[in-house]
Amino acid sequence: MRKKIVAGNWKMNTTLTEAKNLTSELKQLFSNDIKCEMVVCPPFTWLTTVSENLNNSPIKIGSQNISHQEKGAFTGETSVAMIKEAGATYAIIGHSERRSLYGETNEVIHQKLIAGLSQQLNVILCCGETLEERNAGKLEEILTAQIQLGIGEMSLEYLPQLVIAYEPVWAIGTGLTASPEQAQEAHYFIRKLLSGIFGETAANNISILYGGSCNASNAGVLFSQSDIDGGLIGGASLKAQDFITIAKSF
Ligand code: PGA
Repeated sequence: MRKKIVAGNWKMNTTLTEAKNLTSELKQLFSNDIKCEMVVCPPFTWLTTVSENLNNSPIKIGSQNISHQEKGAFTGETSVAMIKEAGATYAIIGHSERRSLYGETNEVIHQKLIAGLSQQLNVILCCGETLEERNAGKLEEILTAQIQLGIGEMSLEYLPQLVIAYEPVWAIGTGLTASPEQAQEAHYFIRKLLSGIFGETAANNISILYGGSCNASNAGVLFSQSDIDGGLIGGASLKAQDFITIAKSF
């Protein structure tokens, strides 16, 4: 059985007060019928507070990015050791906003992947095509490059910490959710790629999350697809009740 995961990517949103309120509400609304792993990924500055607030709660903490460098003269960067000390056990890497707005390449994303995995983080590796790429028939080519180069040389011992998120860029923050069939098709293709890298049994144990305008109304049908193991949720993770409803959608 693959782990079911619902992770909230808060992006560059929330004041400190809002972050505290959101986590308190999540803690209150959490109930034992939630069978998936819930993760919240607040901005770096609130990691410590959020993790203190979620102390004694099963909800896990993640960062939205990490540096591939260990420490030193890297102005503006945040290391794996720092986010771990702040309470994070997950990190999102290679989000399309990092790729398109901050020039992250598959090569640097691979270095981040190894930095996170080798320091015991669970890493959510994002991939996904733009609308132009999809329309040009390049979906498989793009996913192949992002998965194969992003994973690169990776020790099998890290497999239990690896999570993939398929996020079609055209669906992120647009309200244009991929149809369950489109999402399932891409997830199935990603699992085949993983199977080529790690073998079928290992690939069948890797959770693949869907992201891109996933919300409380469409999560159920998306999560019922055979290769969709949960979601990476942006906008809808900023509303506690919606995020909890999504987590209960399995
Ligand atoms: P969205 O964002 O749910 O707001 O579309 C998802 C993401 O970017 O991770």
